[in-house]
Amino acid sequence: QARCAAEMTRDPSLHLKAGIGVDAGEAVPVGDGFRGRALNLAARLCALAAAGEVLASSTVTGLAGNADDLAYAERGLTSLKGFADPVAVVEVVGADSHAGDSALRQERRAASLPIGGFLGALAAGPLVGRSVEQERLWSAVDSAFQGRGKLVLLTGEAGVGKTRLAQELTRNLRNRDFLVLTGRCYEPYTAIPFYPFHEAMGSAFAAAPGALQSQILQRWPYLARLLPEQIVPAQPAAASNHEEQQRLFWSAAGFVRALAELSPVALLLDDLHWADASSIELLQHLVRQLAAYPVLFAGTYRDAEVGQDHPLARTVVDLTRERLVERISVSRLAREETAALIAEAIGGSVSNAFVSLVHGQTDGNPFYSEELCRSLVERGDVREEAGSWKPRQVRQLEIPETIRAVIWQRLARLSEAAQAILLRASVFGQSFEFDDLLVLTEVEGSSSRAEAELEEALEEAVRAGVVRSLAGDRYSFNHGLTQHALYTELPARRRRRLHLSLAEALEALPELERTRRSGELSWHFIRGGDPAKGLPYALLAGDQAEAVFAHDEAGTHYRAALELAQQLEDSRLEAEARERLGSLLTATIKYGAALEMDEAAAEQYSAAGEREAESRVVAQVGRIHVVNGTTSQGIPRLETYLARVPDTLSRGAQAALHSSLANLYFAAERYSEALEQADLALALAIEAKAFGIESEAEIRRGATLAMLGQDDAALTVLSDALKRAEVANDQFGRCRASQYLGGIWLQRRDTDRAEGYLRQALQLGERMGNPRQIAVSCLGLSLSGVVSGNLSSSSENAERALGIMHSLEGSWRSACQIPGFEEELLNETEKAEAPQYLLECLAVARRSL
Ligand SMILES: Nc1ncnc2c1ncn2[C@@H]1O[C@H](COP(=O)(O)OP(=O)(O)O)[C@@H](O)[C@H]1O
Ligand SMILES: [Mg+2]
Repeated sequence: QARCAAEMTRDPSLHLKAGIGVDAGEAVPVGDGFRGRALNLAARLCALAAAGEVLASSTVTGLAGNADDLAYAERGLTSLKGFADPVAVVEVVGADSHAGDSALRQERRAASLPIGGFLGALAAGPLVGRSVEQERLWSAVDSAFQGRGKLVLLTGEAGVGKTRLAQELTRNLRNRDFLVLTGRCYEPYTAIPFYPFHEAMGSAFAAAPGALQSQILQRWPYLARLLPEQIVPAQPAAASNHEEQQRLFWSAAGFVRALAELSPVALLLDDLHWADASSIELLQHLVRQLAAYPVLFAGTYRDAEVGQDHPLARTVVDLTRERLVERISVSRLAREETAALIAEAIGGSVSNAFVSLVHGQTDGNPFYSEELCRSLVERGDVREEAGSWKPRQVRQLEIPETIRAVIWQRLARLSEAAQAILLRASVFGQSFEFDDLLVLTEVEGSSSRAEAELEEALEEAVRAGVVRSLAGDRYSFNHGLTQHALYTELPARRRRRLHLSLAEALEALPELERTRRSGELSWHFIRGGDPAKGLPYALLAGDQAEAVFAHDEAGTHYRAALELAQQLEDSRLEAEARERLGSLLTATIKYGAALEMDEAAAEQYSAAGEREAESRVVAQVGRIHVVNGTTSQGIPRLETYLARVPDTLSRGAQAALHSSLANLYFAAERYSEALEQADLALALAIEAKAFGIESEAEIRRGATLAMLGQDDAALTVLSDALKRAEVANDQFGRCRASQYLGGIWLQRRDTDRAEGYLRQALQLGERMGNPRQIAVSCLGLSLSGVVSGNLSSSSENAERALGIMHSLEGSWRSACQIPGFEEELLNETEKAEAPQYLLECLAVARRSL
């Protein structure tokens, strides 16, 4: 120490960074040194302080007062291990330290982590044991720092210390100037897409330097979907497909990469066994894409809750094969470690007998051990005697037998009011908002004093260490096990009633908020024993998930809705759920299953007398047959249906059916019939003012005319359609019209004009994330390249088109199965046969557009 001080005085350029902790009070001389509460607290604060940071107790700031050049920033009331009462931690900052230097700001942000027992916070006491695990973690940090990132997973049973170890990792990362991003998963949010990423990406957005922040939404527009509070209303679900989800993933990766170019980044996710499938997919994508950047990923999960078909299991297998994951299993503590943990927990040394007692009972599970100690101390079963804790008489002690019993013993010491409130809070899951809990309390009892009572009860629970307060007005139980113990204590009837009151309270929220929380609403209604009310919210939650391209979660919600509707024998809602699942299956290119689902929906709508809905689904069935390449089934289906359609059916619905049939005839190369149906559809659509169908039918008309050799008429119709689509800002219509216009000019060998339209179509297809439109545009551009002699661009475009077509089901795949086709297209020098192949391929592909 002395040498270090001397060296530093001599050479001030030595960058040794240190943090400082200060408390004031009496120091008792003992031997060569000193002891006392103030020293202990100062040491705790010092351990929490980041480089260049000064943390003090409120005693110190009270004494120092408003000194010049000093300002204080509250870091919250914190339960520090070994201190019975929570301590107010204050950060001492120079009064001028908020100067606008962005690097400095970044450092500040990274440093000011909250203190507490959750991921993303600094732990309130020292870590016990875990030296082997830490070694492995530090080496992963080193690798990431050098640009070799990977995913580190901490696994083990509940309460064993996964989160605690991840907190130690957080501290290490903070001290090495990583930007630390954290997200937590909770059981009730398992089907809410990207739940943990909202938190993580939200802080990433906030931490981005101003210059980057202002560009984020232009550079990565899809990122907005991961930042709900920040921006943009949800997009309509219709445009959703697999490719769009990929775009979201690439946006996220691009953004994190941009951050990693400024400083190393760490993304930590807690309790991944409760993560939604989309989050896990995104995590896997990020790990893969950022493996060569200074980004470390870490996650925790209870391995017992991750079975073979859990999405995380698949990801772990995949990433293991790619050597991008490292699993560290966190096991129970050894006896000596338990001894150290107990000493920390109660703040003094303990007798051997006592350690044996606790360790014997808990077998080294740290959460269990801590709770047991606290419970014994609270009951007065262990007493402090001359600086050491002794049990009354080990033999006489009554030791609760299960972890649940221990938790209950501690909860039982709280006032009745606090217990009642915690019981209610347990219905929310591990974490809850003050206002939500208040609403539940008000619904239950009188309202005027509710708020004050609730505050008081929560304060009491926080003081007892059972609940902790998070940022904002959020609270969380000290551990999932505490929440679980409370929840399972509730009698089934009361539990249902609470879920129901909560659902009803949520239902009273403004519409926007209600929609956003529809997943929670359906969860609580279902658990509240009112599936009829839960069902529509399950559908809505599915739509919400579709809006962020989270097909898995959408599927989960829709299937839940389907099951509920079956239970309730409500065939109309069952049909609705099936229709949604049908669209989902179509979007994810599972045409066979989509047809089955939609046909079942049509039948049920029909049985329920819902003609409009039935015809909507039948029109959709026709469209699926087109892309699936099964026109021979689709045509009779639509023909028979149309033959017995009642006149009372709305014009719009009739238009949709005729338009769908026109598409089928077109795909089957029956052009004169296609033209007839398109004409019919167009007239009906205009009458019904159904603009979407009108545009579809008009474009189909133009395309059919072109096929019938009436180019001039086709050009007029399509140019009209294009203009109208532009005015209506109908991207899909614009894309399709440009597509066909490009085709006609290509046939006329006017490659300049053709490419103009095709490029526009490509751009629009990309903007919509529509793989078919992208593929057809690329094929057209490839052909145009051959015609104009630009062979390298031709091959490039062909390659892109083929890549997409291979991934699609139905008629598309057959388009690239024309023998000899691929070699010819991809080969830059030998293009003799290419035009013919391209034409054939384009013909097949275009017919199903
Ligand atoms: N190695 C350790 N050193 C000190 N305290 C620990 C250790 N492991 C766990 N704890 C404490 O035990 C309790 C439960 O640990 P936690 O990390 O929340 O468990 P898990 O996340 O595995 O369910 C916490 O209060 C934590 O601080
Ligand atoms: Mg945990």
